[in-house]
Amino acid sequence: MTAEFLAPFQNRIEVKLAQRLSTFDQPKALLDAMQYACLGGGKRLRATLVYLSADALELNLDQADSTAIAVELIHAYSLIHDDLPAMDDDGLRRGKPSTHIQFGEALAILAGDALQAAAFQTLAEDELLDPAARLRLIQALSIASGIQGMVGGQVHDMAGEHQALSLSALTEMHALKTGALIEFSAASAAIIANNQRVEPLLRSFGAQLGLAFQVQDDILDETSSTETLGKQQGSDRAQAKSTFVSLLGLEAAQNHLADLMKTALNLLQQSQLETDNLRALVHYMVERKH
Ligand code: IPE
Ligand code: IPE
Ligand code: MG
Ligand code: MG
Ligand code: MG
Repeated sequence: MTAEFLAPFQNRIEVKLAQRLSTFDQPKALLDAMQYACLGGGKRLRATLVYLSADALELNLDQADSTAIAVELIHAYSLIHDDLPAMDDDGLRRGKPSTHIQFGEALAILAGDALQAAAFQTLAEDELLDPAARLRLIQALSIASGIQGMVGGQVHDMAGEHQALSLSALTEMHALKTGALIEFSAASAAIIANNQRVEPLLRSFGAQLGLAFQVQDDILDETSSTETLGKQQGSDRAQAKSTFVSLLGLEAAQNHLADLMKTALNLLQQSQLETDNLRALVHYMVERKH
């Protein structure tokens, strides 16, 4: 299932990612693994959020390309590492063998490392943005992806296996491991535009959307199928992960998700940057089937 409004942004980011990766020429084995992990799959929701927020702020989409690329490179790296045997030990990703199954663990780890570095290099080298904007983006993406964001959240996720977390601890874990990168994606247009009034509004909206997105990921892990997801269904249960489903049960998790979505839509409205496409993206991210 692909929503029509997404297609132009998915196509745009696919081309931009391929172009970006083609600027590196060796070592070939590493590049093959990086391309394998990045291209030809993925819903591209983070890049689309970057583009739609840029559009709502009336920026030229060219000015958002490096950020859209960077966020998808970080995301792809996070998925490679998330699937490793030492982490979630998942052999299927985006309907294909996970990168470590296809290329071996050592190259998979290194491909993740190189994708992360490439993300920051992409921002640093974007000559369409003034140096101050590049620096602000690099700082914000560092915070969202590192110890204060995705990586920090992944540490909570690993520590949360076989534990009964409180609702607030679980919310914090999801906000970090998944929410932070989605919050960055929403806020990045305000950073590019140097619009300090709007940035906190987009941040609150993005954080709420990111949290809702991961709650739906937890629900789909329980209720969908491996074929539909393109990744192993039931992985969370198999690894005794702390999820919204394990904590609240399926029905209460679904009700909680509906509340989170309402709040996200309210925050979007309050930001006064609401567009039809951004509203459609919220619905898609929460109501998606994979
Ligand atoms: C999967 O993210 C990992 C989570 C943070 C839940 P997506 O569902 O956006 O994965 P792709 O990019 O579409 O494969
Ligand atoms: C993903 O959480 C968080 C990341 C930072 C990659 P999950 O472990 O639930 O993601 P999936 O279900 O494997 O895509
Ligand atoms: Mg995980
Ligand atoms: Mg996982
Ligand atoms: Mg999951």
